[in-house]
Amino acid sequence: LKKKKKKNQQQKTDLSEQIKAATKDNHVRAENTQLMLSYQKGEITLVQYKVLLCSLYEIYRALEDEMDRNASHPAVAPIYFPQELSRVESLESDLEHFFGSEWRKRVIVPAATQRYGQRLRQIGRENPELLVAHAYTRYLGDLSGGQVLGKITQKSLGLSSKEGLSFFYFPSVSSPNRFKQLYRSRMNSIELTEKEKAAVLEEAVQAFELNIQVRDLRMNFSVQALTKNDTKNCSTHKDRSPAAVLPSSPIVQFTVGLCVALATIGVGMYAL
Ligand code: HEM
Repeated sequence: LKKKKKKNQQQKTDLSEQIKAATKDNHVRAENTQLMLSYQKGEITLVQYKVLLCSLYEIYRALEDEMDRNASHPAVAPIYFPQELSRVESLESDLEHFFGSEWRKRVIVPAATQRYGQRLRQIGRENPELLVAHAYTRYLGDLSGGQVLGKITQKSLGLSSKEGLSFFYFPSVSSPNRFKQLYRSRMNSIELTEKEKAAVLEEAVQAFELNIQVRDLRMNFSVQALTKNDTKNCSTHKDRSPAAVLPSSPIVQFTVGLCVALATIGVGMYAL
């Protein structure tokens, strides 16, 4: 009985348990963003998926750049699994599939996504011990729901193969559940002061919020405006420079979204 009690007490102080508890409410909110509700209804559209890919690319580029740069930092090394988890290359091949060989000129970066990327780069420079909060939020989330979301995407978009969906699959992870266990134990091995631990928990809440904002802004403005006009021509911002940014004010964003949609009808007929 004593042993069991000790184990329970130990679990309560484990980072993996604490981070899950600290972000429980945020997870519920993340499940209920419009994009995730579309997913749960099996109604994801090509436009939504393409914009999601653009955002994920920006986010993972920042996350993985910072993880690579801090790979030997004591709070990063235990959870550094580039071979198993890296998503940048798979996102690049998915982007090429949906946007064509000129995809680099076509990716867009909504303002909320840009803020997320900036936050990742800032903590990579200033507080690498907080990277675990972001790596947990993205990678454990992807390992938890990825394959189901991959199947829903394939079905919703009527894709005949898994081409364009490599983001969802982790070929070097044979059992996502076992890998999640390993990941949790590595998280728990990171030595953090109480102050640092509190900061990691706070950052994880922020990481969920950044994900929620990315999903909602995308739905409310850029995607909606584009979808209304022409689904087929979505996201083909031929005249945009790489990593163009959609402004964050709702009215400006809606207007810009609408203008982009109208302009896209003109130039985009031949693009997809
Ligand atoms: C349709 C929306 C979603 C559904 C249905 C969903 C569902 C789930 C499920 C069933 C688990 C496994 C829980 C467990 O093993 O105890 C999970 C874990 C997780 N999800 Fe989600 N999820 C969604 C969206 C998200 C989003 C948007 C994020 C953040 C970007 C996220 C982050 C996570 C994380 C970090 C975990 C690991 C929790 C842990 O074991 O500590 N999820 N999710």
